[in-house]
Amino acid sequence: MVKINENYLKLQDSYLFSTIAKKVADFQEKHPDKKVIKLGIGDVTLPVIPAVIKAMHQAVEEMGEKESFKGYGPEQGYDFLREKIVEWDYKKRGISIEKEEIFVSDGAKCDTGNFQELFDINNTIAITDPVYPVYLDSNVMAGRTGNFNEQTQKFDKVVYMPVTKENNFVPELPKEKVDLIYLCLPNNPTGTVLSKEELKKWVDYAKENKALILFDAAYEAFIVEEDVPHSIYEIEGAKEVAIEFKSFSKTAGFTGIRCAYTVVPKEIQIEGVSLNNLWNRRQCTKFNGVPYITQRGTEAVYTEEGQKQIKENIEYYRENARIIREGLERAGYTVYGGINAPYIWLKVPDGVTSWEFFDKLLEEKNIVGTPGSGFGPSGEGYFRLTAFGSRESTIEAMERMN
Ligand code: MLT
Repeated sequence: MVKINENYLKLQDSYLFSTIAKKVADFQEKHPDKKVIKLGIGDVTLPVIPAVIKAMHQAVEEMGEKESFKGYGPEQGYDFLREKIVEWDYKKRGISIEKEEIFVSDGAKCDTGNFQELFDINNTIAITDPVYPVYLDSNVMAGRTGNFNEQTQKFDKVVYMPVTKENNFVPELPKEKVDLIYLCLPNNPTGTVLSKEELKKWVDYAKENKALILFDAAYEAFIVEEDVPHSIYEIEGAKEVAIEFKSFSKTAGFTGIRCAYTVVPKEIQIEGVSLNNLWNRRQCTKFNGVPYITQRGTEAVYTEEGQKQIKENIEYYRENARIIREGLERAGYTVYGGINAPYIWLKVPDGVTSWEFFDKLLEEKNIVGTPGSGFGPSGEGYFRLTAFGSRESTIEAMERMN
């Protein structure tokens, strides 16, 4: 008799952003006349930059010619793109990464969700609380988390590292032994960052404790402050203990196109096994690579023209973040993040839960955000807005808030 994977029953009924989408759809059905402003999921709104579009057009033409047609590509990504990534994202920053350490994929969500497959079921995971739900949910699905405690809203085998205003959103090193540590910096959802010195403590911890850091740098392009690392490999020794996930979604407006990459350094050996070989084995079995057209488009991000154009888009979102921060402050809220990140994390008024605040904002102001508790129990009392909306809707949202 077929049986289901019971771990799935430990998940919340629906994924956070699907729950929100459903609530918004229900609201719109009841109030079709209301203009709802969506600042919930971090989805970009500016069109794809011209340099990418041009390169993709060319690639489409190539696919239509016998001589240049491409079938299956390398599962790890085409060399032309891996080489550009090495050059622009690492070599220019003085970091040595080999192209064989780069695995091009269709999203950091998939990679951060899938990577846990390489590890023993009894490994302990440590996550910040609040956290991007994919890290936790993918481990729940695998059965690595133990049971859910309704009272604490936590899984009993997971080590939660609270990040709240009390610790300035800087997670403390775990006191108990952990094996896999998820860090997302700049942080989703709080929009906060760690300095080089703070991040170094994590690398040192991982080395001392034979742990592995799964470092999600999807929002790296938003960093403006000097002392904030753009890659974990800026920290000495990180190549022995850290995997890095990067995404073009927020950097180059690729949420619909889909392209990302993961760096798996050859130095990382676990019980004498190369993680790079293992991930390669996994990808070759379960993944057929990112479309040629997409990879040619992504390659165009790594040109002077492409860089200039993506920087303009990032500036646009950064200005939205400023408008939101200032608008919320004017309305009397305490806000965090939004400087090195496209997310603004605000404190909801006392006595109101973050889901109550969500409902109130939707009903009264017709604005959608993301309740902090959706990211973990320590997110209760907070709320996230994204800077990825259009300029007009961002301004209008702040007018409605004031
Ligand atoms: C978010 O809103 O947290 C992100 O857009 C979700 C994602 O990147 O998958």
